[in-house]
Amino acid sequence: MQLTDSEFSRIVNHVKGRYGIDLSQKRVLITGRLENYLLRNGYQSYGEYISKVEKDPTGNEGKNLVNVLTTNHTYFMREFEHLEYLRKIILPWIREKEQNRGKDVRIWSAASSTGEEPYTIQMVLQDFFSMDKSWDTQILATDLSTKVLLKAKSGIYLGEQIAPLPDTWKKRYFKRINNEEFQVIPELRNKIVFKQFNLMDQITFKGLFHVVFLRNVMIYFDNETKRQLLDRIYQHTASGGYLFIGTTESIDKEATAFEYVQPSIYRKK
Ligand SMILES: C[S@@+](CC[C@H](N)C(=O)[O-])C[C@H]1O[C@@H](n2cnc3c(N)ncnc32)[C@H](O)[C@@H]1O
Repeated sequence: MQLTDSEFSRIVNHVKGRYGIDLSQKRVLITGRLENYLLRNGYQSYGEYISKVEKDPTGNEGKNLVNVLTTNHTYFMREFEHLEYLRKIILPWIREKEQNRGKDVRIWSAASSTGEEPYTIQMVLQDFFSMDKSWDTQILATDLSTKVLLKAKSGIYLGEQIAPLPDTWKKRYFKRINNEEFQVIPELRNKIVFKQFNLMDQITFKGLFHVVFLRNVMIYFDNETKRQLLDRIYQHTASGGYLFIGTTESIDKEATAFEYVQPSIYRKK
């Protein structure tokens, strides 16, 4: 199946316009991932497919496109230094701040992919607040792709995927379900609200977040898209709240009102 220049531009424009993801340098990725999907689903050409996506009022074809084209690679304990920073610096700050208020911890994993990130964050929270069960540690985890969210909600992982976790966490928070797979126990799964959310949209979640994890997702966005997204997140962060980005990412000083704390960690004054 041939991808013409005009079909390529239409796909790039659609994905950039709707989801902020810039695939203009990713022609090989598009053909590599989409060709099989098109053949399996009986499309004769990329043109026929992109017309369907552009016209589909339900948005379902668009969802499938996102499921096929997004890069969802993640793993347990990724960027461990952030979890340490959370445990040592941020959670004591939240405890101090919220002790005499709602005892509500407000954390958002904003590109949560298949769930490894929010589950690991939740394990850190469980350890930290183990002495006082009256804290509400439920957190929000969102992603654009419905496919990864389904996987995240199921909480089912291969033994090799949970291998990086400390043994105590593996024992405490997972149940073996067959020879190869383990499932996160319901008590921990219930402490994460998984929702589909496009980071290009207005943020309508209630209340302000103490911490936002926005890790390894802005790599797909251009500078203006990043600037606007950071601005929306800033508006929804509590004063003194923190933002984590991926350790290989950076933000231009001029692009954000967040204050630089150390590489990949920012704070709202
Ligand atoms: C590489 S994963 C990062 C997962 C995790 N945060 C980590 O650092 O390991 C990037 C995720 O961003 C999601 N994503 C891409 N564009 C998005 C958008 N516009 N809105 C919400 N999520 C998006 C993808 O679906 C993918 O699951």
